[in-house]
Amino acid sequence: MSKPNLPTAYHLVSLETVDSTNAEAIRRAKEGEEATPDGTLIWAKEQTDGRGRRGRTWFSPPGNLYCSLVLRPDVAIERAAEFSFIGALALYDTLGTIGDAGHQVHCKWPNDILLNDRKVAGLLLETESTGGVPDWIVLGFGVNVAVLPGDVEFPATSFRAEGWAASEVECLESFSRHFLKWTNTWLEEGFAPIRKNWLWRCYGKGEEIEVRLENETLSGVFEDLDESGALLLKTGDGIREITSGDVFFPSIGSGQ
Ligand code: BTN
Repeated sequence: MSKPNLPTAYHLVSLETVDSTNAEAIRRAKEGEEATPDGTLIWAKEQTDGRGRRGRTWFSPPGNLYCSLVLRPDVAIERAAEFSFIGALALYDTLGTIGDAGHQVHCKWPNDILLNDRKVAGLLLETESTGGVPDWIVLGFGVNVAVLPGDVEFPATSFRAEGWAASEVECLESFSRHFLKWTNTWLEEGFAPIRKNWLWRCYGKGEEIEVRLENETLSGVFEDLDESGALLLKTGDGIREITSGDVFFPSIGSGQ
């Protein structure tokens, strides 16, 4: 596999196999800024213990893209989650850049990318803070390039299943450029343009959706995102602000 050509802002660590690129990025982030500066990018060909959101496993055989980016922004910890929206926009634009024409791409709240109404990529943000500012943020992303997970709650797809030939390296190179571009927008203008662009690209706004929380399932209309990225769901009992959960669309089905 060829070596990715990345902008100089990134420090690539390329591994054949690892338990989880997020776990590895966190171990290295904890060694401090000198050892692991902002922009350190861990890339592994496979993961033996890939992790997804809400304690799930992320299927991680060779053939797909598994990466985690260490970020050290000087920002209030409450704003750390904004980076998962920056990551989602970067993945969306990556698919628009390296994918074939005539396919539909959407962002799905909170951190997924859909290709032709099926999940093709997911993001996992982890962070730790002291004194109100993140010590580090690790933004992990997995893209189904060649291999499909078997047992999934939401229908899944891959580049190959959609007939796309794009490789992991092309995907990583394109992501790195789009991520820099959206980070610059965020630095110059804040979260507002990130939120607006995410809303332009998202699936299901204004539609009936189902949101599965830890202990309950809510139904309602996907009204909006608030200014922090929380989902605003219009239910029979009023507007619920949701910060964590899994969204399902009656029009797509559960995939089970
Ligand atoms: C999700 O949709 O649940 C998020 C999935 C995130 C998976 C990626 S793969 C690279 C990085 N390392 C991990 O262990 N998880 C993330």
